[in-house]
Amino acid sequence: MLEPCGRRPPADSLIAEFSRFLSGRMGLHFPPERRADLERGLAAAARELGFTDTESCIRSLLASAFARPQLETLASHLTVGETYFFRERPSFECLEAHVLPALVRDRRAGERRLRIWSAGCATGEEPYSIAMALARAIPDLSDWNVSILATDINPRALRKASLGIYGDWSFRDAPAGIRETFFARTKDGRFEIAERIRSMVSFGYLNLAEDGYPSVENATNAMDIVFCRNVLMYFDPAHGRKALEKLGRSLMNDGWLFVNPVEMPQTALPQLVTVNLPGTIAYRKGARLASAEPERAAMPAWLSGAPVLSQALADVAAAIELPQMAPQGGQPTVCAPTPYQQAAALYALGRYPEAAETLRQALARDPGDAAAMALLARSCANQGDLAEAAKWCKQAVAADKLNSGWHYLLATIVQEQGAAEEAAAALRRALYLDQDYALAHFALGNLFRRQGRRMGSERHYRNALAVLGGCAHEQVLPESEGITAGRLAEIIRASLSSEASA
Ligand SMILES: C[S@@+](CC[C@H](N)C(=O)[O-])C[C@H]1O[C@@H](n2cnc3c(N)ncnc32)[C@H](O)[C@@H]1O
Repeated sequence: MLEPCGRRPPADSLIAEFSRFLSGRMGLHFPPERRADLERGLAAAARELGFTDTESCIRSLLASAFARPQLETLASHLTVGETYFFRERPSFECLEAHVLPALVRDRRAGERRLRIWSAGCATGEEPYSIAMALARAIPDLSDWNVSILATDINPRALRKASLGIYGDWSFRDAPAGIRETFFARTKDGRFEIAERIRSMVSFGYLNLAEDGYPSVENATNAMDIVFCRNVLMYFDPAHGRKALEKLGRSLMNDGWLFVNPVEMPQTALPQLVTVNLPGTIAYRKGARLASAEPERAAMPAWLSGAPVLSQALADVAAAIELPQMAPQGGQPTVCAPTPYQQAAALYALGRYPEAAETLRQALARDPGDAAAMALLARSCANQGDLAEAAKWCKQAVAADKLNSGWHYLLATIVQEQGAAEEAAAALRRALYLDQDYALAHFALGNLFRRQGRRMGSERHYRNALAVLGGCAHEQVLPESEGITAGRLAEIIRASLSSEASA
């Protein structure tokens, strides 16, 4: 097969190398039967990126470790964006009839809060369907603090999603009355989503293969419900499983995960239990349900006496490089980890209740340990207990006032509680202590942006970019739960360009 300009298509070996690269950066998997899709998408991306042929485009991308604009172009040509309102309707029927009423019943007496994430939301039909389901299922919705986070790797899809204007085809399986109740007709015959539905959803860029989640910083923590449907089926199995494990950690205990059952790996994920619902299947996270039997025989001595620890914890302990003592009698021995290290390992595994318990015990022995307080704050935030998280974070700040990281963490927590001014004050304190704190500039930029303070927002975005300019692309930023300098710079540039085009 020849390309339109008469050149031969790229060699198999080059395509194979690029596929590996794509899988690492975006999780996407192109098996042989989708080779034609890959070549078609690549040819279109090459044209858009200004190359005369696909091969030189691939070689240039491989050589440059492509950055955000290239990733954006690739995502728009290589991902499948098909979606429509109330797609796979039984999931929404169960959401409305079963999941939401039970959640609302449980929460009515306490904090009236619901957190939902549509991961891989494409052009927005899925998160807006969730918002409409909420409006139908909860009569006193205005008394609830509801947030629906909707993320995708394709910024063009996200821009369309934020506009909230759709044609007939998006309603191909919508229940009767949806269009009349929740949309207004535009002059050109399309349909614009009602503001009360639009305002429940916030859209953002998130690459499920690369970005850090769960994280308080990008609000991917403590979810009651996660939808990630028809996304992971395009991932290679290893990235798909890893993404599912991380999505599981983003859930509260008893939280619900909606994925297409074909996207679940062959071997079960211990955190998630299959629940048969009328006409569909969902997955539920539950500490009660998860098997956490310690594999004592296989564990080093220091682990075998610890509560509810598994081999997986031993692996993480190895990964965080617990100090080795000098070999004695020829056998290297592993030092017992501190309770903080144990808690950090549990936290890294997403076992937040156990991490919190270990930290509480550590703090009972050493009440002044600010790092333990801050990790306890994160563990509480990841379980959705923001009041407790704020309490511990304030104690960390009081114990170690000069640590800019604790002020930043406090800002992210109180902002989730809706206290924007308190968050801004904490971010200013973080920047007072460390004016090169890129994440704090970024967070303050976001906060100002939401308040409509464009100049302030742009100033802080540019400050962050200036600081990031001096960092290595792959440098992981402190307090960021894994975000790199290069990645944050890409996100900020995208925010600046979307602000300019708004
Ligand atoms: C077929 S759509 C699914 C939309 C919606 N969830 C549904 O079921 O109707 C798949 C979406 O996943 C997104 N996607 C693919 N790879 C991704 C990644 N690595 N991170 C985040 N989103 C990704 C694509 O951009 C696309 O919008």
